[in-house]
Amino acid sequence: TKRVFTAFKPTGHLTLGNLLGAIVPAVRLQDEADCVYAVADLHALTIKHDPERLRANTREAATLLLACGLDRSLLYIQSQVPAHTELAYLLESTAHYGEMRRMIQFKEKSAAQEEVRLSLLTYPALMAADILLHRVDVVPVGEDQRQHVELTRDLALRFNRLYGEVFTVPEAVHPRVAARIMDLSDPTSKMGKSDGSAAGTVYLLDRPDDIRRKVMRAVTDSGTEVRHDPVGKPGVSNLLALLAACSDRPVESFSYGSYGALKRDVAEAVVERLRPVQERYAELSADQAELSRLLSDGAALATRRTAGLLAEARQAIGLP
Ligand code: TYM
Repeated sequence: TKRVFTAFKPTGHLTLGNLLGAIVPAVRLQDEADCVYAVADLHALTIKHDPERLRANTREAATLLLACGLDRSLLYIQSQVPAHTELAYLLESTAHYGEMRRMIQFKEKSAAQEEVRLSLLTYPALMAADILLHRVDVVPVGEDQRQHVELTRDLALRFNRLYGEVFTVPEAVHPRVAARIMDLSDPTSKMGKSDGSAAGTVYLLDRPDDIRRKVMRAVTDSGTEVRHDPVGKPGVSNLLALLAACSDRPVESFSYGSYGALKRDVAEAVVERLRPVQERYAELSADQAELSRLLSDGAALATRRTAGLLAEARQAIGLP
């Protein structure tokens, strides 16, 4: 069977972009593959953070992943499995400064800050470790993570060539319509936890009225024609993508006479898509002890399952 891994960075609240771009594909893969999923809390240390908020966001993200249906897989919190940081160091020693510095996300995020944490630069080596640790074939991610998975492949191939065949070379998979959900108030930039605007980002735990308000105020264009054309009509195309992904129908199946009618249907489709997730989240949140137990069992199992790979990588690179 195929092996699958993906992770979510708790830099803020999980968004509709996370759900449609990666969580839904990850839920589906559970039927056909051996799946491992994690909350990548170490990745959230790459930018300015508040310790208490990070802890709360990490727990919220883990609960939300379960509520979205990732409840038939191994699920854990990255920092509770030290093998991630250990393998990351071996991969930092495989990667080159130049290729790290050229990563698009590093360039964008470092340009926007005065004090850039060193971990923001080395972050893709940790992400590669996350993936390679589990001998993964498939990584379901949104479009924005494509370059990091490419780098993971390069590092795996380089390590294997230099030190022997240790790593499986993984492949990224992206959803057909929702690989890049855009910000509702700026449809030329990605909807994101940390980079998007609050008015243009739908969070998985937003109240129905807030969702409706955000969708109804979505930026479109001065035309009137509803048609899927991401370059010419980014706002309308994003709404069509949301409708398609939330109602599980192809983009071509919709026909609307006005932007208002489209927005009303998108708002209701998103509200209905999130309703069962929010209900399940409330149920799961009521039993914090059960959640703690599940996550610590997950970390223990992940530690056992990855020990062999870590030992092989240490041996190959020349450690005792
Ligand atoms: P993160 O936490 O930013 O996002 C989690 C997942 O959601 C996808 N995504 C989107 N997809 C479509 N439209 C959007 N607007 C949108 N926003 C986010 C992301 O592509 C991602 O799949 N570095 C990763 C987390 C990570 C990881 C890993 C992923 C850590 N280790 C190992 C895969 C494998 C990140 O920051 O994703």
